[in-house]
Amino acid sequence: MRIIEAEDELRTAVSAARAAEKRIGFVPTMGALHQGHLSLVSAAKRECDLVAVSIFINPTQFGPNEDYDKYPRTLNEDTKLLAGEDVDLVFTPARETIYPEGCSTWVEVEGLLTRTLEAAQRPEHFRGVTTVVAKLFQLVAPDVAYFGRKDFQQSVVIRRMTHDLCYPIDIQVCETIRDPDGLALSSRNQYLNEKQRQQALSLSKGLFAARAMFEHGERHGDALHVAVQAVFDEYADVSVDYIAIVDPETLEPLETVVDRCAVLIAARVGQTRLIDNLMLEN
Ligand code: PAJ
Repeated sequence: MRIIEAEDELRTAVSAARAAEKRIGFVPTMGALHQGHLSLVSAAKRECDLVAVSIFINPTQFGPNEDYDKYPRTLNEDTKLLAGEDVDLVFTPARETIYPEGCSTWVEVEGLLTRTLEAAQRPEHFRGVTTVVAKLFQLVAPDVAYFGRKDFQQSVVIRRMTHDLCYPIDIQVCETIRDPDGLALSSRNQYLNEKQRQQALSLSKGLFAARAMFEHGERHGDALHVAVQAVFDEYADVSVDYIAIVDPETLEPLETVVDRCAVLIAARVGQTRLIDNLMLEN
């Protein structure tokens, strides 16, 4: 496994892979890797000839009062995990490679996709995500890029950007990996103490309550919302940012679910902000 920090070295490796007609799979990450990330790597291994993973804690997607400074930095453990998965190439760019001195270009998806839900609390977050992912796509030039459904809105925004910028990249969105008790894996789970971890189960329990109602035929957005809220009513220490029942492509709120919907939740447990979601389909 090659660990590459320099842009020119990456370009050389990518050109060689292209010349050998290898199908390049790419998994962008911010490190602090867990089984959720590794599930994306496995999908890439299955479907591609060369798998590249980037590790870059992207400063521009963190708000001023967010956790950029304390975000877990575990590069040694991360590279060991990736070597164990037989990854070909790990790209760990320096901040100046991605944001050179004087950098003043942004890639931004406009409209509801980047105004609603996460964006209401984090107005510049998606501009940071699309800017870094556009740059990484430019550098790695993959055939396929893998994202997790865990970050549902991010995956929708990235699909939009990829299409709008005519990148010839297939975007694959992989299922959320959970602990056996339901908690969605997240690098931010490391911030939780034992008591908070129990409280964090409110998110998946809320989603599973909505799923149970959906399976019993409930199709009213309001009723699904009430079922999720009822779970949170039992967790006084968890503060809900939003519970939303939306169209999975447009992110418009749904009064009535016809074929499918996404149930999205964001909540704070102590200082830690967690998100989770579930797709419900006929
Ligand atoms: P990060 O939070 O490190 O996540 C990297 C990828 O792993 C994302 O596509 C995310 O959705 C996926 N992922 C996280 N938890 C998962 C889980 N439990 N199951 C399945 N997939 C999971 O998302 C980012 O980094 C950044 O915004 C990035 C796209 C790298 C841009 O900086």
